[in-house]
Amino acid sequence: MDNFIIRGGKQLNGEIKISGSKNAVLPILAATLLTGERCEITNVPELRDIRSTFELLNYLGKNCFFGYGDFVAEERGPLKLHAPYDLVRKMRASMLVAGPLLARFKKTVFSLPGGCSIGLRPIDIHLQAFKKLGAEISREKGNVVLTAKKLKAARVKFRFPSVGATENLMMCAALIEGRTVLENCAREPEIADLAAVLKKMGARIKGEGTATIEVAGTARLKGFKHSVMADRIETGTFMLACAAAGGRVRLSGVIPKTVDALTRHLRLAGVEVSVFKDAIGINSSGSRPRPVSIITRPYPGFPTDLQAPWMAFMSRARGLCSVNERIFENRFMHAAELGRLGADISVAGKKARIQGVETLLGAPVMASDLRAGAALVIAALVAGGKTLVRRIYHIDRGYEKFEDKLRRLGADIERVKN
Ligand code: UD1
Repeated sequence: MDNFIIRGGKQLNGEIKISGSKNAVLPILAATLLTGERCEITNVPELRDIRSTFELLNYLGKNCFFGYGDFVAEERGPLKLHAPYDLVRKMRASMLVAGPLLARFKKTVFSLPGGCSIGLRPIDIHLQAFKKLGAEISREKGNVVLTAKKLKAARVKFRFPSVGATENLMMCAALIEGRTVLENCAREPEIADLAAVLKKMGARIKGEGTATIEVAGTARLKGFKHSVMADRIETGTFMLACAAAGGRVRLSGVIPKTVDALTRHLRLAGVEVSVFKDAIGINSSGSRPRPVSIITRPYPGFPTDLQAPWMAFMSRARGLCSVNERIFENRFMHAAELGRLGADISVAGKKARIQGVETLLGAPVMASDLRAGAALVIAALVAGGKTLVRRIYHIDRGYEKFEDKLRRLGADIERVKN
């Protein structure tokens, strides 16, 4: 297992290009199952989660190529309809193959998904919605089985704007003739990227990016070519790394409006953020920020995926602030690890209280999930001395060439074998 060794105290300076969005690519890869035609996706980041999806699609019978930022999916024979435990446990997003397989073959079997350990993350919203479209749900040896004689367009209201459920249902509805209306949808930008793909495939879609999405599906969908949007969570992570460590950094190839909530909060904390057409500049003295509290909410609110990196940044605030986690029920595992570096954080239920400290000091810490891992790296960049971050395989799930990019900006970070 790999670890990072980070020697803190270096400012970050220079320019890096932000990679394609992990959370946008994953549903787009699942959408390739909606057609037998060739699909070409570019700007695909080299990540463990993409490799896992590559394996899953190949297992299901797709013929995939992945390398140098390109992903091609073709089909030469019949597909399997079962997404097995070994492939699915690594990543919750593998649940996204259910909608396409159900729509195309009227049957799919999948194991309950894994992913980051940040709460219960049930799949009831997906299942209830599939039911509304005419699917029957049963359980068999730890698997969920979805079948349908015929799927029908319908009106579906989600009890919570789940990102994955919105995507799964959009894909399923794209292959059902007639007009499906999805209400209380998630409005995350990755959903609009998926909608762009489904439109290229032949579906008619209105309302992506709003709470009500209308999908006019068709019996047959075509192949597509698509370049994936920039990763707003990677963008935000580097904004916070520079804000915390100090320095001047330019992030290129980004979509600035997708990080508006973070930009606003950073400015409140005293960091200079310059917004260009497709780039963001950060200018930070690296001194202690003003304390700024956050509440995570569905997009366009403050993203839960930047909650841990924000906490790392605020651990040196000039006073007291709080973090209120409203999306996941157990997403504070990083608080105790930040504490090992000297942060003063107490957690009660869904709220964390951060009393900013003057300095952090390097120590051995452990990443418990993807974004928690990024938070520990940010804290290590400002901590005095040496920090060892273990279990960085979590970070490899979602950040492309993380240490290379940080090193290019001047950080002292190296990857070492256990
Ligand atoms: C996606 C993102 C993830 C991000 C999250 C919230 C991808 C691949 N992952 O995850 O990075 O943190 O959105 O922005 O895009 N829920 C249920 N029942 C369900 C589905 C969800 O109760 O059927 C709950 C979850 O437990 C969670 C909340 O709803 O508390 C949000 O989950 P959801 O929006 O579905 O997140 P994901 O799509 O899994």
